[in-house]
Amino acid sequence: MWGGRFSDGPDALMTAINASIDFDRRLYAQDIAGSLAHASMLVEAGILTRADGAAIARGLKQVEGEIEAGKMAWDPALEDIHMHVETRLKQIVGDAGGRLHTARSRNDQVAVDFRLWVRDAIDRLDAGLKALQQALLDQAEKHAGTIMPGFTHLQAAQPVTFGHHLMAYVEMTARDRSRLIDARKRLNESPLGAAALAGTSFPIDRHMTAKALGFTAPMANSLDAVSDRDFALEYLSAGAILATHLSRLAEEIVLWSSAQFGFVRLADKFTTGSSIMPQKRNPDAAELVRGKTGRVIGSLNTLLVVIKGLPLAYGKDMQEDKEPLFDAADTLELCVAATTGMIADMTADTARMYAAAGLGYATATDLADWLVRKLNLPFRDAHHVTGALVKLAEGRKCGLEELSLADLRTIEPRITADVLSVLGVDRSVASRTSYGGTAPREVKKQIARWRRQLGKEKTS
Ligand code: ARG
Repeated sequence: MWGGRFSDGPDALMTAINASIDFDRRLYAQDIAGSLAHASMLVEAGILTRADGAAIARGLKQVEGEIEAGKMAWDPALEDIHMHVETRLKQIVGDAGGRLHTARSRNDQVAVDFRLWVRDAIDRLDAGLKALQQALLDQAEKHAGTIMPGFTHLQAAQPVTFGHHLMAYVEMTARDRSRLIDARKRLNESPLGAAALAGTSFPIDRHMTAKALGFTAPMANSLDAVSDRDFALEYLSAGAILATHLSRLAEEIVLWSSAQFGFVRLADKFTTGSSIMPQKRNPDAAELVRGKTGRVIGSLNTLLVVIKGLPLAYGKDMQEDKEPLFDAADTLELCVAATTGMIADMTADTARMYAAAGLGYATATDLADWLVRKLNLPFRDAHHVTGALVKLAEGRKCGLEELSLADLRTIEPRITADVLSVLGVDRSVASRTSYGGTAPREVKKQIARWRRQLGKEKTS
C-alpha cells in the first residue's frame, strides 16, 4: 500500500504486532457498505467516472459474497479488513479498484465501520433486552400475588410479592435500554470524508454519504471524527451497568435456587449436575452471567486506558478498541439471552416463599404502624414497643402472631384484639398500596403499564 516509500518489507514481528485482520474481519459488511456509499458519492461528485463506479460496486459485492462463502484468503501481511477488501477488489476490477480510496483514508474508513458495527450491536442488544423484559413480565404477572420475604442486608425485612421483585428488574433493564438508545443517538453521525484527519481538497459530499449510511449528519470536525471513540465507550459503559444489573439478578437466582432458600427451581435446560454429588443441580448459567460481568467491566477499562493519553488525531493504539468491544458485545448478548431463558423457564415454590415470608418477624413494621394509627403513639415509641414484643416472641421461640393478647398487653396494655389482623403476611402485603408499593393491586398496575409500553414500541 505504501511500497513507494519503502525499500524493505516488514519484520515478521512487525507484521504480527501490526495485523488486526484476525479480529477486524468482523467489520467486513460495514466496510463494504461504507465503500459502496463512498464510491457512489464520488461518482455523483464527478470525481469518479460512472464506469469506474459501476465496476467498483460490482467488485465490492463480489468480495462480500466471497467473504460470506468463506473464500477470502486472510493474510496478516495485508494487515486489516480495509486492505483485504481493497486488494481483492483490485484483483477483480483492476485499476478502478485503486481509485476507490480517493478522498478517503483508513482513518475515517475504520471510524465509519466501527460506528456502524456498534450501532448494529446496540440494536441487537436492545432487542434482546426487550425479550428479557417480556419474560420478566410474564413471570411477574403469574406471581403478582405470590408472597415472599423482602430483604435488606439479606435479613428478612418486610414481606413483598415475587412479582414486585421481578418488576424491579423490568425497571432496571428499561433504564439500560434507554442508555443504549441515548448512546445510539450521539453515535449516529458520519465520520466519512474526514479523510486522514484534515478533510480533503476533493469536492466530496459528506451529507450524501452520511444519509446513505443511515447517519443523521456528517460529523462537524474532521479531527474529532477520526480520533474519538466515545461512542464505543458509551456502549461499554451502558453495557457495564447492564452487566452489573444482570449479575445481581444472577446472584439472586443462585441464592433462590439453593436448598436453603428453595424459592425457585431452574429448568433442567439451565442447570448442570455434578459428576460426584448426584443430588446437585447447579445454577451454572446464573453463575456465569455473574462471572462474565468482569469481562464487560474490564473491556470498558481497557478502552478508557487506551484512549486517555492519545494526542489528536488518529494513533495506531486505537486499533486496540475492537477486541474489547467485540468481546463485551458477544458477552452481553449471550448473558441477556441466557438470563431470559432462565427467567422464562424457572418455576417458583410459592408455598416455600410464603412460609419464609413469615420468618424473622417480617411484620414487625406492620405492628409498629398499627400502634401509630390506633393508639396514636409517636413512631419512635411504637418502634420501641414493637422491639420489646419481638424480644418476647424471640424468647418464646414463636412468631409475633402466636403471642396471645395477654402477652401483647404485658408490654402495651392498650393493645386490642384487632392487632392480630395486621400480623399476617397477606395483610401486610395487601396494605402496601402506595405508588410503586408491593400490594398486588399496585404490582398489577405496573405490569399493565409495561405491557402497554412494550406493545407500543415499533418492532425494528
Ligand atoms: N486497522 C486500523 C485500525 O483499526 C485501521 C486504520 C489504520 N490507519 C492508519 N493510519 N494506519 O485502527
